[in-house]
Amino acid sequence: MSDNSQTSTRGNWGTRVGFVLAATGSAIGLGNIWKFPYITGVYGGGAFVLVYLFCVLLIGLPLMIAELMIGRRTQKNPVGAFKALHHEKSIWQMTGWLGIASGFLILSFYSVVAGWAIAYIFKSIVGFSGTTEMIQGQFIELVTSPKSSILWHTVFMGLTIAIVIGGIKKGIERWSKILMPLLFALLLGLMIYGLAFTHGGVQALSFLFKPDFSKLTAEGILSALGHAFFTLSLGMGAMLTYGSYMKRETNLIKDAITVSFLDTLIALMAGVTIFSMVFNYNLEPAAGPGLIFQTLPVLFAQTGPWISVPFFILLSFAALTSSISLLEVVVSYFIDERKWSRMKATLILGGMIYLTGILSAVASWQVMFRGKEQGWLDVFDFVTTNYMLPIGGLLTCIFVAWVMPDKDKVEEFGSRGIMYQGLILLLRFVTPLAVFIVILHGLELLPFMEYK
Ligand code: PFF
Repeated sequence: MSDNSQTSTRGNWGTRVGFVLAATGSAIGLGNIWKFPYITGVYGGGAFVLVYLFCVLLIGLPLMIAELMIGRRTQKNPVGAFKALHHEKSIWQMTGWLGIASGFLILSFYSVVAGWAIAYIFKSIVGFSGTTEMIQGQFIELVTSPKSSILWHTVFMGLTIAIVIGGIKKGIERWSKILMPLLFALLLGLMIYGLAFTHGGVQALSFLFKPDFSKLTAEGILSALGHAFFTLSLGMGAMLTYGSYMKRETNLIKDAITVSFLDTLIALMAGVTIFSMVFNYNLEPAAGPGLIFQTLPVLFAQTGPWISVPFFILLSFAALTSSISLLEVVVSYFIDERKWSRMKATLILGGMIYLTGILSAVASWQVMFRGKEQGWLDVFDFVTTNYMLPIGGLLTCIFVAWVMPDKDKVEEFGSRGIMYQGLILLLRFVTPLAVFIVILHGLELLPFMEYK
């Protein structure tokens, strides 16, 4: 199946560590540091975290293995991969198309939030001062100023495009190798600071790890599932694409476990850090998307730039190693299937994503969505995370479990032993059923449940 001449022109990871770092870099991003703490705050803490952890283990991990299997088997982009494993006109290629559409839309708003992070590096250097309202007002000022939002979105998209043009080894792998370990060290330092030197540590731990199920809603459960997909970069072919640059010798199960573990670890570390500060300063845990930008600077005003500058640099790094994987999914299709050069594909598609992102950058452009006026950023985020990724994941899972030939699966997995049987059992029944039920629950369509 794998055609070596094609493989070498597409590019490969230089080393196994290179792949693990790049995949971890894709997984760890704004999802862990910006989104996980804020949605945990919105959906009430511990119980949400528990559901999310279940989703990672029972749905995320098997699906990550499934995506890596498809990618490495076919050495192709998401659309080409489904065709290669089925047939040229296969309806399953729609799963790949859905993934490309998800990557396109996610990157468009992701870049806007990442742009805020870059803007905050500079705000941190100047320093935060004044009353809480004044500090929080700085964030409102930034997001409501189309000029600044678009400027920082431009900077971030420019960086993403430049790295992806560099290609697999020289671009993505080299950057991840430098950025990921640095990020871990920075976050560890901040977490220790939060636990040891503030009075919010104990409360943060109990908020995150003591579940109160009365706070859990249908939407909370759907969001926990959606977030498991988002944070592990699943359901849109990103792991499939990264897997396609993997060499055959590596053990993909071990790698999937490593990536999921590190991703979860970083999210929990970010949660502990941020909530220590939130409780220490009596701030609002359910502040929403502005959480890290509005509440943390209140702390940073007292601790000075030596904490805030590294924090926002870290956040921008993390966002960059994720955004390159989002763009890579979109670009790899045009390189493989349409035979475009990497340069052409990256510039044209990156440019289109950039333009779409302007919708999200201008906060005053709002639409009616789910009963209220909302900005495009929230609409794109909700639709991609809670519906497109879970549906993409569901289809991928059904494909691997029921359609992909047994021989292909066994060869990728490496054995037919009990672990393999367990994985197939999960992918056949447990994972798809769980995803399906949660989607219905999120739509408030489950029979036997009472929705208000
Ligand atoms: N996993 C990234 C994060 O947590 O920020 C976001 C992401 C990257 C989602 C790549 C999907 C994807 F394919």
